[in-house]
Amino acid sequence: MSTPPITDNEIRKLLVFPLESGLDWRGHGIGFMKAYIDPDKRWRINVYHEMLRVPGISLMHDHPWGLFSHVRAGQLVNTRWHRSHKKSQGAVLFNEGRINCADYAGLEGTPQVVPLVKERREVYHAGDFYRQNPEEIHETTALNGTVTLLERIPVHSDGRAHIFWPMGEEYGDATRKISDDEIYAVAASALGTMG
Ligand SMILES: [Fe+2]
Repeated sequence: MSTPPITDNEIRKLLVFPLESGLDWRGHGIGFMKAYIDPDKRWRINVYHEMLRVPGISLMHDHPWGLFSHVRAGQLVNTRWHRSHKKSQGAVLFNEGRINCADYAGLEGTPQVVPLVKERREVYHAGDFYRQNPEEIHETTALNGTVTLLERIPVHSDGRAHIFWPMGEEYGDATRKISDDEIYAVAASALGTMG
């Protein structure tokens, strides 16, 4: 884990002028906007707000890379799940689909049914950080205005991630465009949280 490359004061400046800062903000249907803050795309700022949440979105997923998440403001809840057997205590069946993160084109192949077991809920506040290993299944929710700095841990992988959604439901695509007005509104919410 490294020390974040920007201070909270610098984050505030980015949020006061979110478009003038030159960052390329992208919306994500899970309910946050994100922008890389270095040319190597190792560090990313995430700002959470429910206005960006796409109804019916599939929240559970893994990543092809590991990460450290540094919470700078607000509160975030991370819940991990692990793969299990149908008969294991607490096992819940989910659909599992695969996507290409680098070149997203929807689900690849046919979804599979997999048993997963939920682990304890982890709650993080400003100043906390946590580690997430590649292929660790998780779902993350955060209060409006929560700000995190995500540090990616590079790995050699095929760039594929997995998405999970309940039996009897449809896969909910996370693709979401974001308007300039939304970027300003979410940034303003985060400024209120950062104080
Ligand atoms: Fe994630």
